[in-house]
Amino acid sequence: LSIFFFQLERTFIAIKPDGVQRGLISEIMSRFERKGFKLVAIKITVPSKDFAQKHYHDLKTRAFFDVLCDVFSSGPVIAMVWEGEGVIKYGRKLIGATDPQKSEPGTIRGDLAVVVGRNIIHGSDGPETAKDEINLWFKPEELVNYSSNAEKWLY
Ligand code: PPS
Repeated sequence: LSIFFFQLERTFIAIKPDGVQRGLISEIMSRFERKGFKLVAIKITVPSKDFAQKHYHDLKTRAFFDVLCDVFSSGPVIAMVWEGEGVIKYGRKLIGATDPQKSEPGTIRGDLAVVVGRNIIHGSDGPETAKDEINLWFKPEELVNYSSNAEKWLY
């Protein structure tokens, strides 16, 4: 019944240029979809360097900030909002540890990436960042509200 009364949690997920160039879009999306999370917004875009810096503003004092923003703005990114119970935390679990050398097999980075500078995917790290990142990337009307048949079997 909860699905009728509560807005399920939402998180921002981006497939970075390296993930797109390597042809991993559907592989990555299917992991979120099969888990039971629901896609509520998606676009393909090449972020400007300025936009990349906005997205990663929390990291502006880090040594790798410039290179991170360069790579992020170097080609198309798939920007998405996924919805579901626990999707922020569990999305990070599906993604795996930041450094692919440390991420477990079975995770996206563990299975599909090798080094931290090419770790193919980004996911919001908490409720506040999820809200900020969704607002940065999407207008409210770009988020689609719909019920899927699967939900009554998931919740
Ligand atoms: S923190 O603040 O140390 O916890 O940051 P962390 O979660 O490790 O990483 C934050 C984002 O920075 C990226 N990162 C790097 N990019 C390039 N080179 C190096 N050395 C590097 N270290 C960290 C990391 O992938 C995170 O980006 P996202 O897109 O959020 O995964």
